[in-house]
Amino acid sequence: MQRIVILVSGRGSNARALVQACRREAWPAQVVALVSNRPDAPALDFARAEGIATVVVDHRGFADRAAFDAALDAAVLALAPDLVLLAGFMRILDAGFVQRWQGRLLNIHPSLLPAFPGLHTHRRALEAGCRLAGATVHFVTPALDHGPIVAQGAVPVHDDDTPERLAGRVLALEHRLYPLAVGWWLRGELQVDGLRVRHLGGAPQWLLEPAQGSAMGPG
Ligand code: GRF
Repeated sequence: MQRIVILVSGRGSNARALVQACRREAWPAQVVALVSNRPDAPALDFARAEGIATVVVDHRGFADRAAFDAALDAAVLALAPDLVLLAGFMRILDAGFVQRWQGRLLNIHPSLLPAFPGLHTHRRALEAGCRLAGATVHFVTPALDHGPIVAQGAVPVHDDDTPERLAGRVLALEHRLYPLAVGWWLRGELQVDGLRVRHLGGAPQWLLEPAQGSAMGPG
């Protein structure tokens, strides 16, 4: 059984999707803990209700960033994960942490990277006039929202979209995309070559929003 640790800061809907997929698809893995930098993250309530261990490393309780980074590093290391998943974790990880977990650290970002790294991705996509928006699962590197792309999901942008409406549709896709990518990683189906990631079985590494109720793409 491979050990998965999920880092969260808030709502935790992606963490929930991952926990549910782990169970439903009988992954050779177990989500052993959710780690949060916020003691009040709703994601922790879900974990507790599911009997999953929770660890809080409250960033406000440390004198500086280095002290927080060291505490987070120690907390995650103590959980002995095979795979670390960022799911709405809103702190920038230091390079030492990223290097330690290189190749075993994934993130989901709500844009079609490399477009729109950082915050407010949906507003920025609307302002830029994008006709497609989406989400990206990628290996984490020290650069923010950068790193080998495992999978991307796209949704059309509607003329009457607001950032909130677009975010909701992208989020529904995220809940399919992240488990898909994690399942591949756990089964050793990914090969990384520089910034390019190839699925060894040739699975399409993309998803599209279901059109008129019928799913498109491999998910
Ligand atoms: C998601 O949109 C994810 O892509 C981004 O942060 C948000 C987290 O949402 N990194 P949730 O906490 O998983 O509901």
